[in-house]
Amino acid sequence: MRFVFLGLPGAGKGTQARVLSERLGIPQLSTGDTLREAVQAGTPLGIEARTYMDRGEYVPDVVMVRMVNERLQEPDASKGFILDGFPRTVPQARALEEVLTQAHTPLDAVVQFRIGDATAIRRIIGRSTCPACKRTYHEEWSRPLDDQKCDADGEPLEKRSDEDALTVKRRLAVYREQTQPLEAFYAERELLRSVDAEAPMADVSARMFDVLRDVL
Ligand code: AP5
Repeated sequence: MRFVFLGLPGAGKGTQARVLSERLGIPQLSTGDTLREAVQAGTPLGIEARTYMDRGEYVPDVVMVRMVNERLQEPDASKGFILDGFPRTVPQARALEEVLTQAHTPLDAVVQFRIGDATAIRRIIGRSTCPACKRTYHEEWSRPLDDQKCDADGEPLEKRSDEDALTVKRRLAVYREQTQPLEAFYAERELLRSVDAEAPMADVSARMFDVLRDVL
């Protein structure tokens, strides 16, 4: 099964992709996580990507398309995948469509997680992330058991470099300009499933499984 997850920063794409990935045994392919790993490792990709990410801007399409095409060739993606954060522009969506059409492996569904700007800002500003397992926490409603350490592996939690209020506002604006048109793109192809993601995590998971019940 092959899915794309769409939604504003902080909509819960990563959180829900982990839930679906565990349920179906297919990988969650997070372009944000891959880019942050490249930044951490100081690779040429990471050095280039960082300048865009720290401003809340998108990394150029040509870089992203190449990165995702390479990732889709890896053996674990052959049984299916959840693309978390890709595509984010119409050119990226067209490139993905072309690759999947050539391989006779079309998408099964695109899930759009809907939240308002105020929720997005509150969720992102309060988030901390485990650098090892990528599990996320929130200072208001999902704190770690031991303050600032991951419950799963004990790693010290980190804040991302694009989580300050100004950068978050820029990320929201960039989403509206460049990613929102994908809703119409995928609605035209009858792939779009929409989930109200303002509810607690478990309720959002239940809604996600509900809108996907005909393809699971
Ligand atoms: P990326 O890492 O993909 O960031 P994003 O899309 O902005 O999304 P986030 O990871 O911030 O949010 P999320 O929706 O996954 O929410 P989460 O589950 O963590 O991308 C970062 C940057 O990389 C981009 O800005 C860009 O520069 C670059 N990039 C990446 N892909 C690209 C592409 N294709 N093209 C070009 N550039 C690209 O949840 C957020 C918080 O809320 C957490 O604390 C979580 O615990 C909490 N939470 C989640 N759900 C709920 C709920 N239901 N109730 C309460 N709390 C919740």
